[in-house]
Formats: sequence, structure tokens, C-alpha cells
Amino acid sequence: MKNYNDFSCPTCKQRLECSGELFKCDCGNTFKLLDDIPDFLVDSHTREMDSYFDNVPEYYESVSYLSRIYNFFGCLPTQPEDLMVPIIISSIQDGLNRILNPNSKLILDLACGTGMYTRSLSKEAYHVWAVDLSIEMLKKAKLKIKEDNLENITLVRADAERLPFPDGQFHGVSCIGAMQLFRDIDATLVEIKRVMKERGTLAVMTYVKEGVWKEEEHQEYLEKLDIHFFEVKEIEKLLEQNGFGKFQYRINGSMIMFSCTANKE
Ligand SMILES: C[S@@+](CC[C@H](N)C(=O)[O-])C[C@H]1O[C@@H](n2cnc3c(N)ncnc32)[C@H](O)[C@@H]1O
Repeated sequence: MKNYNDFSCPTCKQRLECSGELFKCDCGNTFKLLDDIPDFLVDSHTREMDSYFDNVPEYYESVSYLSRIYNFFGCLPTQPEDLMVPIIISSIQDGLNRILNPNSKLILDLACGTGMYTRSLSKEAYHVWAVDLSIEMLKKAKLKIKEDNLENITLVRADAERLPFPDGQFHGVSCIGAMQLFRDIDATLVEIKRVMKERGTLAVMTYVKEGVWKEEEHQEYLEKLDIHFFEVKEIEKLLEQNGFGKFQYRINGSMIMFSCTANKE
């Protein structure tokens, strides 16, 4: 079940008119399907990090790739990896379900990648919109969604800073493993809050400096790649100044999972 009726222009936010394979806005913008996926990118992305994910979809969900990532971020302290990686994934899935309580709700999975968490959220949600910048990650997500026969997911290519949805559309937003990559975190939080219903819930997994993983050399290397490591206080402040409250978090290594609520205007 594709749902193409609820899109807004990522630039001016007016409702888009969908005719066949074309989305048109009164402001003059038009958008097309790319590999059967609505493509709402308006800027070209030239950062090294933005194209990195086009090269990883084939092995992104493998134990060997994820164990390297989790090891690097200090959240895979115990062996064997083939046991621990699924445990971490299911603890993130459980955390998401507990925080978002997606039963019968409209959920946005922001920076969905290959849709690992989109697929688990869709088992309970009414509908999940899954957004990513990388068309290659989205293509892989499309295959996996088809394999699992999941019908309540709409894949969308867009930038988290310019979401193609009307105000107040979602009961809940998940954003797993991506906030550290966003270029302008304030602008992104403004967009996330805009598309959320009042008192909707945001669930995020990202990485902090406070964790067990503290090697300066690694941090310098990653910061050159435009990866931002947060401090817990910084996250709290960013959320507060962008209209989110009820911040709660848990840390494992450098991995932080937090939840917060969109304040009433
Ligand atoms: C580490 S992956 C996480 C994927 C998925 N959430 C998961 O946990 O398996 C990070 C994803 O963020 C996406 N991404 C990075 N910057 C983005 C942006 N500005 N807007 C949308 N997606 C973005 C990347 O393309 C990539 O697929």
C-alpha cells in the first residue's frame, strides 16, 4: 500500500499534487520517482559522508559490518559477535517499541537506511514513512520490504533538513544511528518537530563523547568526516531550545538512546 497523497513541498511546505509519476507544487518545484521511490532531494550533496552510504547497502545488515561499527563505538564489550550483534539490534528494537508504542500509529523512520528498524516498527504501526538521503540504501530497503511482504511502508528520498510532509503528520519519529551525521542539527530538529503531532514522541540512537570509547585519535578522524559526537548536556540543550521536553536517556559505550516529547506550541 503506497501512500502518495500526504506529501508537501520540501521547500515551501505547500501540499503537492500527485499526477502519475510526478509531484507538482504551486511554487514551481516538481519531483519524480527514482526507482519507484519518490525523490524529494532539492540540494546536491557533496560531502564525503553523504555518498559513503551508497557503497554499503549490500553488507550493511551483516554481523561482520555491524560488529565493526559497534566495536568502534565501544558498545560491543562481550564476544561472540554473532550473538551480541543481534542482541544489540533487538534491544534497539525493543527500546523503539517501548518509547514510540507504534501500535496503530503513523510513524516516521528518519534516516532509515536499509530499513532494519522500519521493518520492525511496521509490524505494529498503522503506516511507516521511511526517509533516507541515499538512494542505494533505499533500494536495498525496498527489496527487503518486498521479501518480508510488508505493505504499510512508504519509502521516500529526502533530506532530514527538508522533509516533504505537512505539519503535524506523525505520532512518533525514530532516528537510529544518524543524528551524528546531520549537517545542521538545529534545522533538522525544527523539521522533525514541525512534522510531529503535539506531544508526539521522538526516539533517537546516536553517539556521545561520554561513553567508554574515548580515544582522541578516533574522534579526530571521525570529526574530519563530519561526524559529530554529542555531549549529553548538549543534546539536552538542543532539544530544549527546539521545543522538545521530557528528555530521558540510556548510554551503552558511546551509544546513547534517548526519548523526548514535542512540546505544545
Ligand atoms: C548508520 S545509517 C543508519 C540506518 C538505519 N537507521 C539503521 O539504524 O540501520 C545512517 C543513515 O543516515 C542517512 N542520512 C545521513 N544524513 C541524512 C540526511 N541529512 N537526511 C536523511 N538521511 C540521512 C544515511 O544515508 C544512512 O542511510
